[in-house]
Amino acid sequence: MSHPTPVGLIGFGYWGPNLARNFHAIPECDLAAICEANAHRLAKARALYRATRFYDNVEALLNSDIEAVAIATPARSHYPLARRALLANKHVFVEKPLAMSVAEAEELVELAEARGRVLMVGHVFEYNPAVRHIKTLLDKGVIGQPYYFYSTRVNLGRIQSDINALWSIAPHDISILIYLLGRMPVTVSARGARFLNGKVEDVVFLILTFPNGVLAHIHASWLDPSKVRRLTVVGSKKMIIYDDLAAEGKVKVYDKGVTRFTDPQYGEYQYRLHTGDIAIPKLPLLEPLRLETEDFIRAIQSGRAPLADGRNGLRVVRVLEAAQQSLEKEGALLSLGE
Ligand SMILES: NC(=O)c1ccc[n+]([C@@H]2O[C@H](COP(=O)([O-])OP(=O)(O)OC[C@H]3O[C@@H](n4cnc5c(N)ncnc54)[C@H](O)[C@@H]3O)[C@@H](O)[C@H]2O)c1
Repeated sequence: MSHPTPVGLIGFGYWGPNLARNFHAIPECDLAAICEANAHRLAKARALYRATRFYDNVEALLNSDIEAVAIATPARSHYPLARRALLANKHVFVEKPLAMSVAEAEELVELAEARGRVLMVGHVFEYNPAVRHIKTLLDKGVIGQPYYFYSTRVNLGRIQSDINALWSIAPHDISILIYLLGRMPVTVSARGARFLNGKVEDVVFLILTFPNGVLAHIHASWLDPSKVRRLTVVGSKKMIIYDDLAAEGKVKVYDKGVTRFTDPQYGEYQYRLHTGDIAIPKLPLLEPLRLETEDFIRAIQSGRAPLADGRNGLRVVRVLEAAQQSLEKEGALLSLGE
């Protein structure tokens, strides 16, 4: 086994502690340093990880002997921090979204490739056993032809003031859809509204079309009475509901469908409804974040690209940027290249 990879974490706010806990638990990884600008949060990190070094500025962290950084700071700082880290020859894991524009994301991907560094983005749902199971069902044709998807990711809280609900919440749903279908959407249209501070959309409704007429809808909001994390998949043979908050039975596969046939007596189309069993697959009890952080370390040590690599992050940013343009044009239907 190669030596444990020394990783430095930047940002120990709400999400950073989850990354720290996972990097710390991986035997092939050494959570060597934590960098946090806020003294109170840095003290919290210090109390938890005694063998780790601590910094209050990124320059000092990058000058230390870490090989990789994980960035868990607000979205607008992802690009400048990732760029600095790549220029310092570090492997980089960035929380989602990879960057705030296609130009920024492309630059990071090119920089990482030119320097032979791993660039990975925190599309954690691609590591979620439930999402992976749904992908195997789709790939095996179990649900038949996929017709449409809709995803609801809403809650009261985690209100952001520097980015809207599209950039904050929807990266997860976009990455899930691209992962499940293995394709980029071809069109995007988004509407949203700013209620709380007049600067950023608190709620966004996003419609994507994929090749073969597959339709998808994403509802993202931090201004909603209840917390919902739910994806519905409707196919020609079966339908799936994935409820991420369900204690058990997160994925339910409904043997339901509709067949159209011609009635020989009347010569007209008729519809036959089919309602069979509901299957609840047994899913492995694995923490998606653990699988994600392990993939980063494995990629560094093996030289094999991680699943959520920089190009994957770039694809999601392409959709986000087009959706943002549509949002600014009150839902204009915009095309995306394949
Ligand atoms: N994968 C997920 O499900 C998930 C969930 C929540 C947040 N996130 C992502 O995690 C990232 C952080 O979100 P959060 O909610 O933890 O934000 P946060 O504001 O709670 O924490 C960010 C922390 O970074 C620190 N920081 C900012 N700039 C810094 C710098 N230059 N040097 C050192 N420290 C710096 C801040 O002091 C703060 O403590 C975001 O990109 C967000 O999208 C991902």
